[in-house]
Amino acid sequence: MSDATRADDIAVGSDPRQSVQRRVFVVGAGIMGSGIAAQCALAGYPVTLEDVNEEFARRGADHAERALDHAVRRGKVSEADRQAARTRIEVAIGLRRVDSAQVVIEAAPENLAMKRELFRQIEEGAQAGALLATNTSSLPITSIAQDLKDPGRLVGLHFFNPVLQMPLVELIPGHTTRPEVTEEARRFAESLGKTVVASRDTPGFVTTRALAVLINEAAWMLYEGVATKEDIDTAYKLGFHHPMGPFELADLVGLDTALAILDVLWDGFRDSKYRACPLLRTLVAARKLGRKSGEGFYRYPAPGASG
Ligand SMILES: NC(=O)c1ccc[n+]([C@@H]2O[C@H](COP(=O)([O-])OP(=O)(O)OC[C@H]3O[C@@H](n4cnc5c(N)ncnc54)[C@H](O)[C@@H]3O)[C@@H](O)[C@H]2O)c1
Repeated sequence: MSDATRADDIAVGSDPRQSVQRRVFVVGAGIMGSGIAAQCALAGYPVTLEDVNEEFARRGADHAERALDHAVRRGKVSEADRQAARTRIEVAIGLRRVDSAQVVIEAAPENLAMKRELFRQIEEGAQAGALLATNTSSLPITSIAQDLKDPGRLVGLHFFNPVLQMPLVELIPGHTTRPEVTEEARRFAESLGKTVVASRDTPGFVTTRALAVLINEAAWMLYEGVATKEDIDTAYKLGFHHPMGPFELADLVGLDTALAILDVLWDGFRDSKYRACPLLRTLVAARKLGRKSGEGFYRYPAPGASG
């Protein structure tokens, strides 16, 4: 079985960035992994996008292509850059080829045990000097790094969804992260054209902590019958100039991810303001996960159909 669309031998071309580019290995080819792969490829990095099986890895690569197509339609990316970026993305199954990369970005589900185990395996396979980063949106970096032989190597690099459209990256050094690793991660994020804000390593960092409360509070209002989901979304868009209502945003994020984040905040702070609304749990149990499953608070024509 072929497990790769190889781009190891891509032509370097005249782009000066190409001659010094490090390979990026992205772990988890879901919403975020595919977006991060597209962003890195666009910046000139060769990328390996990995998932647990071929179907998921290829679905991620397709999603990355659709994100690039969408950026061309929006006039943000030229056709030539899109073509070049496409050729830089290869797919892989499992972590076997992690040794080919100088930057490893993990974007697997928001689950502490899974991320700890993944980084244990990544550390075994990765080059000694490779930068190790997690895209967790809420889990303490220090806890994710806990089982590493060298926990000083791991840093939080939190991208936003959709990655190609969102200019922010949150940089989170764990308690054990070495300062030079944090600085390298900052330079890497800036090389992607992102603006970096730094946060201390507390659950949910700066951004997710408040966002999770907004989504949860909206879910509680719907659960209590305060208003319809459409009216709640309209109220936040027109009343506060939010580009998306909280339910539209929850569907974009993924309800499983939103729920996992609330549980992380609850575990981390033991404050009732992070108590997840039962409606969220019910929807997740029913596998109504938002856009990625075709239905969440709203219904969507086909999973992942929107570029
Ligand atoms: N969705 C968002 O808006 C958003 C924004 C910022 C950060 N994040 C964070 O990014 C991470 C990924 O979130 P997502 O929304 O892309 O999730 P997702 O469910 O869309 O994708 C997760 C991917 O990881 C794969 N996976 C599962 N187990 C794996 C393993 N052992 N090894 C490799 N891959 C594995 C899954 O098959 C899936 O393709 C989470 O930590 C999440 O909190 C999400």
